[in-house]
Amino acid sequence: MKVAVIGATGYTGMLLLRLLEGHPRVSDLLAVSSSKPGEPIDSEDPGLGGVSGKYALSGGVFLTTDRTAELKPDVVFSALPHLASARVCAPFFGNTVVIDLSADFRIKDRAIFAQAYGQEPPRPDLLDQAVYGLAEWHTEAIRRADLIANPGCYTTCSLTPLLPLYRDGVVTGRAIISAVSGISGAGKKTDLKYSLVERAESVVLYSPGHQHRHSQEIETELRFVAPDASVLFNPHLVPMKRSMEATLVVDLAPGKTLADAEVSWRSAYAGRPFVRYTGARMPASGEVWGSNRCDFGAQQDGQSLIISSVLDNLVKGASGQAVQNMNLRFGFDETLGLPLSNQV
Ligand SMILES: NC(=O)c1ccc[n+]([C@@H]2O[C@H](COP(=O)([O-])OP(=O)(O)OC[C@H]3O[C@@H](n4cnc5c(N)ncnc54)[C@H](OP(=O)(O)O)[C@@H]3O)[C@@H](O)[C@H]2O)c1
Repeated sequence: MKVAVIGATGYTGMLLLRLLEGHPRVSDLLAVSSSKPGEPIDSEDPGLGGVSGKYALSGGVFLTTDRTAELKPDVVFSALPHLASARVCAPFFGNTVVIDLSADFRIKDRAIFAQAYGQEPPRPDLLDQAVYGLAEWHTEAIRRADLIANPGCYTTCSLTPLLPLYRDGVVTGRAIISAVSGISGAGKKTDLKYSLVERAESVVLYSPGHQHRHSQEIETELRFVAPDASVLFNPHLVPMKRSMEATLVVDLAPGKTLADAEVSWRSAYAGRPFVRYTGARMPASGEVWGSNRCDFGAQQDGQSLIISSVLDNLVKGASGQAVQNMNLRFGFDETLGLPLSNQV
C-alpha cells in the first residue's frame, strides 16, 4: 500500500512515519512537507537512523502536496493544524481515503464548530460523509469510510470510559473531567509558554470549561447516546513530554453501581486489545507511554463513580489511533504495526 503523511515534520506526522515504517502492509511512504520540500527526511528527524526503501518513490526527501497527488496514494494522513488541513487535503477528497488528525471534520454541527473554532467548518459539503474515528466505538462505520476524522487526545481519553456508561444509562447528568497532559499535546511550537524554563516544576490550568475545544467534541459524542449529557472539562499542562491522565467524576443513575459500569465496559470492549479496564487499581500514564492503549480504572464513592483514564497523546491520542483506523478501513487486523506494550 502507498501511504502519504502530510505535515510530516510535526510531532504527530513524525510519529506516523515511524509507525508506518514498521507496518507490514505499507510498501511505499510519501512524507509531505510545506516547509521542507526537497530536503532529506532524516535531516528533520535524525532519530530515524536513516530512511528505508519504503521512501524509494520520493528519493528519501520531503515532497510537495501536488507531487504527492500525482503519485496517487491509497491513503493520506493529514497531520496539519485545524482549518489548514481541509484546505491542503482538497486534491485528495473523493480520490483516496483521508484520515484527518485535525478537528476539521470532527463536529458536524456548524454552530458548535464555530463556537469552538471561531468560524464555520471549512468544508461543510464533506461533513455528512466524515466518520468520527473513535476506533473502538465507530468500528463498523470506519470500515466503510473514505474520510475519517481522528479524535482529539483528551477526547479519546475521556470518551473511552464514558460512552458505554451514558449509552447504557449507568450514569447520568454532567461529567466533571480534570485532566493533565504532556506538552507535546500543543504541537511542535516555538513559544515561550511551552519552553522548559516556563514549564518545568510547574503545573497550570488552561482553557477551563468550554474554552477548551475538546469540551465541545466530548459533549457532541456523548449527546449522540445521551441527549442530556454535559461535561465540565478542566485541562492542565504538566512537565512531561508525552501522555495524559483524565480523572472523570460522574453520578451513577438511581440503583446503579460500579458493577453495572463493569458490565457496560465489558460489553463495549471485550476482544478489543487497545482498551483495558484495570479494576480498582488506577493506572499510571507511564504504563501506556508509547503504546496504543487507553487504560482506565474506577472506584465507587457513594453515588459517584471516580474513573482515571490514561493514554499517550501522540499514540492512542493521535497517530496510533489513526493507523488503527487505517487497519480497520482496509480490513487488516486492527493491531497491525501498533505497539501494545509501553515503551518506557
Ligand atoms: N500533538 C498531539 O498530541 C495531538 C493529539 C491529537 C491530535 N492532534 C492534532 O494533529 C494535528 C497535528 O498536530 P501536531 O501536534 O503534530 O502539530 P505540529 O507539531 O505543530 O505539526 C503540524 C505540522 O503541520 C504543518 N503546518 C503547520 N502550519 C501549517 C499551515 N498553516 N499550512 C500547512 N501546513 C502547516 C507543519 O509541517 P510542514 O512544515 O512539514 O508542512 C507542521 O510541522 C493538529 O491538528 C492537532 O490538533 C495533535
